[in-house]
Amino acid sequence: MKKLVRNSAVVILAILASGCGNGTKEEYKMSKESFGSLDGKEVVLVTLTNRQGNTLKLTNYGATVVWIDVPDRDGNVDNITFGFEDLEGYLNGDPYFGSIVGRYANRIAEGKFSIDGKEYTLAINNDPNTLHGGPEGWHSVVWDYEIVEPEEGNPAVHFRYKSPDMEEGYPGNMEVEAIYEWTDDNEMIITYSATTDASTVFNITNHAYFNLNGAGSGDILDHELTIRAAAFTPVNETLIPTGEIIPVAGTPFDFTSAHRIGERIGEGYDQLELGLGYDHNFVLDNNEKIDAVVYSPKTGRYMEVETDQPGVQFYCGNFLDGTMRGHEGKVYNYRGGLCLETQHFPDSPNQPEFPSTRLDPGDTFRSVTLYRFGVRE
Ligand code: GLA
Repeated sequence: MKKLVRNSAVVILAILASGCGNGTKEEYKMSKESFGSLDGKEVVLVTLTNRQGNTLKLTNYGATVVWIDVPDRDGNVDNITFGFEDLEGYLNGDPYFGSIVGRYANRIAEGKFSIDGKEYTLAINNDPNTLHGGPEGWHSVVWDYEIVEPEEGNPAVHFRYKSPDMEEGYPGNMEVEAIYEWTDDNEMIITYSATTDASTVFNITNHAYFNLNGAGSGDILDHELTIRAAAFTPVNETLIPTGEIIPVAGTPFDFTSAHRIGERIGEGYDQLELGLGYDHNFVLDNNEKIDAVVYSPKTGRYMEVETDQPGVQFYCGNFLDGTMRGHEGKVYNYRGGLCLETQHFPDSPNQPEFPSTRLDPGDTFRSVTLYRFGVRE
């Protein structure tokens, strides 16, 4: 039977480690505390501590990942994702640190799309386009939550949000869920599901920024990246896909084998100039379990990403400018973090050749993305 935590005081739930027998050392702990309030709704910070003693912290503001701490190859534990110490930080110009992004992650050209001949117009928040759902997208709403301790499987936090018809200009009342699990093997698993009562467009992702040397410890140009994608979608000067799907072979976008992110970023390649660096959707091969790997030679930490989505936006923090301070006052520098946003392709509602992002009544969208953290020499 599932056990839910509902009261608002700090609650500690310990799952007894007896019988877990995988060489781990502690009990699994789940706790929550107040993180503030918004529009009369309580905002909480939930901490999941696995049997390795590593923690994932989440808030129901934007169903956001706030903190992930994992060891380096010498056993030093550090937070490797961008976040703020309190809700205030998230309310003051947060560039989607760790949040769930919807109803349409990434860009829609000029904020317009049509469904069955009816045109819809969205607010423009990334001139001349709509980015990440619009100015008040799902990253900026307070989600309902349940902390769930299952009899089998992993402890989890279930975030749910009811998006009303025409919210930010999108048709259909939607019910969406993002479930986060944090396993004893330092895996963060996000399971998404969504339904609608009218035909709409839908694209959801998590926008976590990672720096495997520790969040706020310089840039990520030394990180080695592999993306199992033989093609990517080139963009125009406003970062809208041209509609082409072109091979990465022979370009600085070829990460089919590991390359340092900084290795080719300065090359005079037009797509790197348009994106101000890497800020592009890669068309995943989707034929291997692990779709992307990031590795820091400095700390030995790696992150593996697995998804069932057709694309991943690789963004390397080109718009960060060092003015933002997060946890422990640390500065988040230009190219100080990278995002691997698993998703459908940008602007799909206007690109008939791309996999469809249409969601109809009676259909349930389901998708899983996993981030696994570990170390190697
Ligand atoms: C995405 C976009 C980037 C940028 C960031 C947020 O990754 O592709 O262009 O907007 O989000 O700053």
